[in-house]
Amino acid sequence: MALDRFGRDIHYLRISLTDHCNLRCVYCMPEDMTFRPNAELMQDDEVLLLVRLFANLGFDKFRLTGGEPTVRLHIVDLVRQMAQVPGVRSLSMTTNGVLLSRLAHPLAQAGLQRVNISLDTLDPEKFRRLTRWGALGDVWQGVQAAQEAGLTPIKINAVVVRGYNESDVVDLARLTLEYNWQVRFIEMMPFAGATELQLRQVVTAEEIQTRIETELGPLQQANNGELDGEARVFHLEGAQGEVGFISSVTVPFCAACTRARLTADGRLRLCLLREGEVDLLTPLRQGASLEELRQTILDGVWYKPWGHGLAEGVIPLNRVMSEIGG
Ligand code: 5AD
Ligand code: SF4
Repeated sequence: MALDRFGRDIHYLRISLTDHCNLRCVYCMPEDMTFRPNAELMQDDEVLLLVRLFANLGFDKFRLTGGEPTVRLHIVDLVRQMAQVPGVRSLSMTTNGVLLSRLAHPLAQAGLQRVNISLDTLDPEKFRRLTRWGALGDVWQGVQAAQEAGLTPIKINAVVVRGYNESDVVDLARLTLEYNWQVRFIEMMPFAGATELQLRQVVTAEEIQTRIETELGPLQQANNGELDGEARVFHLEGAQGEVGFISSVTVPFCAACTRARLTADGRLRLCLLREGEVDLLTPLRQGASLEELRQTILDGVWYKPWGHGLAEGVIPLNRVMSEIGG
């Protein structure tokens, strides 16, 4: 078991498989983003070795992120091999859904259990503006394919940006009346890459909730008021699905945090919103033993930070979101 010095049992690893992406969401990266050369990213055998190590340390929940994980070469084979690692109990992916119409079935067959799909608006024009060139229809087909492939329950992630999609939260929440999905609204967080916009255009979970309730009626607490992962969850009267709020900025959930992250270039990052990292890939490539790597992970986890510093203006600027994996 990997414990931190506050007694939190860290057993959830989010792995950024690549910093590359086939979209350029305005809140995530600049349009002329330069990506890392492939050789700097963890290779398949390196990812697998690290997954085995983490599983050995009691990590049982793994999520593949990016950038966009589906643009990684051999993604289906990689998922298949990961799913077979003893101790991997939960294996899921966060994706923009663009390639899911093709990949949902093969990924499900390979052992992927669930997907979270990023979708910030149901308006094709606004979708294009937010993602700079994305086609909403591709994502919608991806969502349907995921549903058919059994990558369920589907979660939809919407980042809300003032001036782009703050009024679209109502239509997104309305999806839960018909579908048993969890539609989660995420407060935009400040990072490198698009920091100006991220700081200026944030919409709080409270405002989003008010917008939804004004149009669709009261949101009733779900899950006995417990967090579902990082989301506070509710349901509309008569709804099939749930509405969730991830209010990392205004209501941090650090006390309940059980996660660590592996960046696309193989650094262990203990907090999304703190810059500290522990390099695993360099020692691995320099021939460190499994025992040495194991100790490096345990030491890193022990010093996992408590609490982000956004309220004091401390913003992580050493990396863009797509390298860390959200
Ligand atoms: N704030 C909050 N979420 C973000 N994402 C990307 N950038 C930000 C940001 N600045 C989310 C995407 C996706 C995941 C990969 O990260 O919406 O769900
Ligand atoms: Fe790509 Fe996700 Fe970033 Fe959008 S938010 S550019 S889909 S990594």
